[in-house]
Amino acid sequence: MNIQTAYDNWSDSYDADINLTRDLDSRVTRAGLGHRTFASILETGCGTGKNTAFLAGIGKQVHALDFSEGMIAKAHQKVNAANVRFEMTDLTQHWPCNDAAYDLVVCCLVLEHIANLSHIFAEAARVLQSGGTFFINELHPFKQYRGSKARFEQNGQTVEVDAFVHHISDFLTAAKSNRLTLVTLNEYWHEEDAGKSPRLISFLFER
Ligand SMILES: C[S@@+](CC[C@H](N)C(=O)[O-])C[C@H]1O[C@@H](n2cnc3c(N)ncnc32)[C@H](O)[C@@H]1O
Repeated sequence: MNIQTAYDNWSDSYDADINLTRDLDSRVTRAGLGHRTFASILETGCGTGKNTAFLAGIGKQVHALDFSEGMIAKAHQKVNAANVRFEMTDLTQHWPCNDAAYDLVVCCLVLEHIANLSHIFAEAARVLQSGGTFFINELHPFKQYRGSKARFEQNGQTVEVDAFVHHISDFLTAAKSNRLTLVTLNEYWHEEDAGKSPRLISFLFER
């Protein structure tokens, strides 16, 4: 099943499913960005809008992109703030965004589904203003090495969404090639992860 169809199918249950990675990302995003404010935020892969409502509170304008009609429909239901605009976009193509138009680009739990990290970093660098922030949360590669990937239940079957392994050095190389400077790199565990590999990796880059 292709990634877009998988997320369309997952959209009905995504918010209600038990999902420790989704919940941890929600907390880490709020902790990482909640003390700052922004003029113009681009959220890439907004999904059902779990983080979009929060971003609408710290940004004057939020432009939220996703290629799943089902996920965006859920986000629309959840977030009807006047300062949020949703747009169907495949992030592997040219983004429908002007150069240097945003002071924050957010990308949470999306990059495991993107083969070519370099394109994402190039587009983020293009649309960010000088001094702007690129915030990424991603399933930690250590979990990927052990076979973890986004998955959900459908009609009693487990559906695994296609995923690509990205090493930590891949993120850092893609950033460097696009003149994005690493500001912080953090690793996070859910309370239920005691004694296990970190679940989430979080990067903050500056343009
Ligand atoms: C695990 S969900 C995360 C959603 C949200 N960021 C969150 O943290 O809850 C991954 C999202 O990325 C989107 N996505 C994956 N590949 C994409 C692509 N090539 N273009 C646009 N969206 C994509 C999916 O449709 C899905 O909504």
